[in-house]
Amino acid sequence: MTDNTNPYDAPDTGHVWDENLRELTNPPPRWWTIAFHASWIFVIIYGILYPMVPLVSSHTKGVLGWTSIGEFKESVAELDAIRGPFEAKIAELEPAAILADRELANYTDASAKVLFGDRCAPCPGAGGQGNPGYPVLADDAWLYGGEIGKIVETITNGRRGIMPAHGARFSAEEIDDLTTYVAGLADGRDHEAGKVLFTGKAACFACHGMDGKGNQMIGAPDLTDRIWRFAGTPEAIRQTITHGVNDPSDPETRSAEMPAFSGTLDTTGIKKLAVYVHRLGGGQ
Ligand code: HEC
Repeated sequence: MTDNTNPYDAPDTGHVWDENLRELTNPPPRWWTIAFHASWIFVIIYGILYPMVPLVSSHTKGVLGWTSIGEFKESVAELDAIRGPFEAKIAELEPAAILADRELANYTDASAKVLFGDRCAPCPGAGGQGNPGYPVLADDAWLYGGEIGKIVETITNGRRGIMPAHGARFSAEEIDDLTTYVAGLADGRDHEAGKVLFTGKAACFACHGMDGKGNQMIGAPDLTDRIWRFAGTPEAIRQTITHGVNDPSDPETRSAEMPAFSGTLDTTGIKKLAVYVHRLGGGQ
């Protein structure tokens, strides 16, 4: 920007203010002139190549034929080209075979994550970590079984475990005995009166087994593993025994229902979710 000419010799426009303030006619600096010409040349070239000038109902199209929607479609097509072979494989393979193919299972995981977030996370939590009243999907304890086939069955048809309410048929004392017995099962604490009821008159064993370890055929949980479907406090256990689960005859019954997804997801979606759930950590 420095100009070595003596300012008093510089040509001026003849305008003088305040007696000695003159308007000079120096040319602008060279860098400025170059930048100025480069800019308008760039604008013209850009206008020839790309859409630029708005017209009444359209705009100039540019010789390259570029459009933003075209660019978007191209990138979608590129993605589809990558996904296509994976999606085709998932559609045709059994879930167990998807699990066995590491690359395919990784792809399925990534793709099912969004599906799980939309459809499932409100209940068992985003990572399958469980919520009060909803089972944990990331551990080894399964109500109906953690084999991939069982998981597919659960997602497809939903689940609705039934445990009858016992409050009307047993005295408060008997319910207390049962509660104490069940609460102590995990620690091996025995409670004779409770055990007699559990394995006898109250017929808890019919579903939960003589040893309380549950029965996956009917979704009766293992009561000895410290993993609680509802909560492991004596109050929660007493509540379940008194009012049952999904027992229509008891208005205070616990309601526990997993909806069926066969109506809202296609088989590929269900397979993807099953693989995802299996890989959350607890699949067997
Ligand atoms: C007809 C089968 C059946 C019988 C009989 C039965 N249960 Fe259950 N029980 C279930 C099912 C199924 C569930 C789980 C339901 C669900 O959450 O989907 C359950 C859940 C429970 C739970 C909650 C477990 C948790 O993880 O929170 C407890 C506690 C329990 N039962 C105790 C008993 C006791 C004690 C008896 C006997 C008085 C009994 N059950 C009788 C089927 C039965």
